[in-house]
Amino acid sequence: MRTPMVIANWKMYKNHAEALEFVNEVKDKLPSSNTVEAGVCAQSILLKELVENSNDTLKIGAQNMYYEDEGAFTGEISPAVLENLNIDYVILGHSERRRIFKEDDELINLKIKAAFNHNLIPILCVGEDLDERKAGKVNDVLYNQLNEDLKDLDGSLVSKLVIAYEPLWAINTGLCADSSDAEDACKFIRNFITEKYGLDISNEIRILYGGSVKVSTIKSFIDCENIDGALVGKDTLDPNNFIEMINIIK
Ligand code: PGA
Repeated sequence: MRTPMVIANWKMYKNHAEALEFVNEVKDKLPSSNTVEAGVCAQSILLKELVENSNDTLKIGAQNMYYEDEGAFTGEISPAVLENLNIDYVILGHSERRRIFKEDDELINLKIKAAFNHNLIPILCVGEDLDERKAGKVNDVLYNQLNEDLKDLDGSLVSKLVIAYEPLWAINTGLCADSSDAEDACKFIRNFITEKYGLDISNEIRILYGGSVKVSTIKSFIDCENIDGALVGKDTLDPNNFIEMINIIK
């Protein structure tokens, strides 16, 4: 049985006071993390305080990190430091990192390996842009990203990974994917995992949909066979929406 999850991606929103207010507002209203996994991925500068103020029902994640533990890498975030803070997840390969900060699959692959070396669960984001969708290339794009991003990763690690299907045209646009299109893409991702790593691992791995998910649409995604939850940006900035989404999918 795969535990469903809702992960809030706060991007570069919320200051310390707002982030703490959110955690204090939601942490006693969430079900056990065995029923549904609730997590917040915040700017790294907020993480220490969030971990200190959170509890077992609300996991905390980073939005990015580098693959080296330490060194002359000005401005980067060390996976060793994230581990030391008891961070649960790290979002890797988000389309905003790929597009704006020019991260490629080779770098993302190194980051995924480093995350596992530091007991962090990577939430790997993959997805096509609008031109690729119009050209009928969704599966090709997903195949290439997964093939490169997961290169040389052991199956025992892959089973712990979370993959988020996030079509670029649906992120931060208000244009949510149709649940049947999202299910097709998530099924393709699960089949990819089955072919490479076998059925046991593909049955374990959690696949999320992300891109303009709202309280009103989350159920249509979680009802799909291959979708285990959602990675949500804008609509999780409000604690009431976040709690409502968790209650809908639990
Ligand atoms: P959105 O963001 O829900 O605001 O579209 C999702 C994401 O970027 O992960």
